[in-house]
Amino acid sequence: MKKILFFALVCAIALSGCNQPKPVKTIENLKAGIKGETTASAKYAAFAQKAREEGNDTIAKLFDAASKAEDIHAKNHTKVLEGLGEKMEAFTPEFEVKTTAENLQAAIEGESYEVATMYPQFLADAKEEKVEKATKSFTWAMDTEKKHAQFYKAALQAVNAMAENTMIAKMNFFILQIPFWVSRKK
Ligand SMILES: [Fe+2]
Ligand SMILES: [Fe+2]
Repeated sequence: MKKILFFALVCAIALSGCNQPKPVKTIENLKAGIKGETTASAKYAAFAQKAREEGNDTIAKLFDAASKAEDIHAKNHTKVLEGLGEKMEAFTPEFEVKTTAENLQAAIEGESYEVATMYPQFLADAKEEKVEKATKSFTWAMDTEKKHAQFYKAALQAVNAMAENTMIAKMNFFILQIPFWVSRKK
């Protein structure tokens, strides 16, 4: 009797699963998230290389750490997507590498968009479609992006301050030369 009841329960669960509507918005959001996170991971690795070339190892390490975090986000989203019986299509990450100051600014803009717009919308859709694993994955990613945005803002301030200090040092050097030039003209 117990076996029959257990079998009936399994069938009921299986059938109720069949009646669940497909979470179409969350599936699309997971795919967009995987693309965004994978692109961010590749982009930050390239930004780290550029920072190293410019002699800024600290900022290179920050980009490297963020690159690894984005890769984890992409893998988490992929697991959720595959758990829903879907697969990610192949794509090529596209991004531009500029100076480290410009790269930091681009990174701040990307992270801010994810925190203020992208993940809040993904979370609202995942909650509406009741995809708990996607809700968790999106929340973990969004919480990390908030930190990334803060770190990048601090790093950009440091880079700008360094540039300003270099400029001030140069200005001071030229100012110190003024009496010499003046005296030579006499
Ligand atoms: Fe991320
Ligand atoms: Fe990030």
